[in-house]
Amino acid sequence: MKATRVYLLLHVLLSAGVLVHSFEPVTTTLFGFGLAAVGRAIYNYLHESCGPKWIHFNATGLQADLEAKLFGQHIASRIILKSVTGFMGNDNPKKPLVLSLHGWTGTGKNFVSQMIADNIYKEGMKSSFVHMFTAELHFPHLSQIETYKAQLQQWIKGNVTNCAQSMFVFDEMDNMHPGLIDSIKPYLEYYESLDGVSYRKAIFIFLSNAGGESITQTALDFWKAGRDREELELRDLETAISLTVFNNKNSGLWHTSLIDKNLVDFFVPFLPLEYRHVAQCAMAEMKAKNLLADPAVADQVASEINYFPKTERIFSVKGCKTIASKLDYFYT
Ligand SMILES: *[C@@H]1O[C@H](CO)[C@@H](O)[C@H](O)[C@H]1NC(C)=O
Ligand SMILES: *[C@@H]1O[C@H](CO)[C@@H](O)[C@H](O)[C@H]1NC(C)=O
Repeated sequence: MKATRVYLLLHVLLSAGVLVHSFEPVTTTLFGFGLAAVGRAIYNYLHESCGPKWIHFNATGLQADLEAKLFGQHIASRIILKSVTGFMGNDNPKKPLVLSLHGWTGTGKNFVSQMIADNIYKEGMKSSFVHMFTAELHFPHLSQIETYKAQLQQWIKGNVTNCAQSMFVFDEMDNMHPGLIDSIKPYLEYYESLDGVSYRKAIFIFLSNAGGESITQTALDFWKAGRDREELELRDLETAISLTVFNNKNSGLWHTSLIDKNLVDFFVPFLPLEYRHVAQCAMAEMKAKNLLADPAVADQVASEINYFPKTERIFSVKGCKTIASKLDYFYT
């Protein structure tokens, strides 16, 4: 709204400049130029550009977001904060940051990508420097895989040429054709530059359900052994992830050479969510909607969703995914 008004004003100013200019060419040329310069300054001010005004990492903000809005993910939270802060604080990274987020649906993988974007780009996920790709949406037809490969390479190259600090998020990696993943491999490497373009300041995030089952199994084993979930460490899950991810032919991309070449900097496991986390999600959602956060409502919502395994009923089947719509239903 505000931006539109300024544009209007800008337009009037520029037209006035041109008008005056055409009446009195000599004396008002400077005036016209002046207005044009002001116009350009305002335009740059309003329009997202690839510079520190629009791209500025806020480590405190990321930490605060992870603490306040992501529940039950003590391992993921720690890795994300450390890796992104380290990468953004490095003026001369040797390769782009490549994160691979793994876990059950609704556990916060998309949400975390959004938090990262929010704390780097002023425009967050809406930024023209943040690109999200989904197999179903962007690369739906197997028969066109060669076209997609060329297109994707062109997009990455074009966008990084425009802005080195670009971010690319690949959702549903499990459905992505392995050939497609292979085609972006060169951009993830340690090259100083490729055809004169350096990719070292870019961020690539892969989201996938691969490994979700073994992460869940490990969490379940912990629970059955009466151990505290927070005692789970990355190394407890690494084997679980790598076994499925490396060996499972169904997990699409993973028999590509992304892994053997160590192009992925961090594999980030997302744990399945328990009742208490779902209730926390509901509380956060109420706050976000400016509703009075009522623990009784949160309890009610958390008790209405499905849990597995059938006998123990510990983990939410859909994580926190349906909480927002459940709340809508509750309040209407
Ligand atoms: C960083 O994030 C914190 C917490 O959200 C906020 O208070 C602060 O204003 C932010 N700093 C900048 C420079 O945006
Ligand atoms: C940047 O990526 C988008 C897809 O997110 C694509 O539509 C656009 O053409 C790319 N820009 C360039 C300059 O290649």
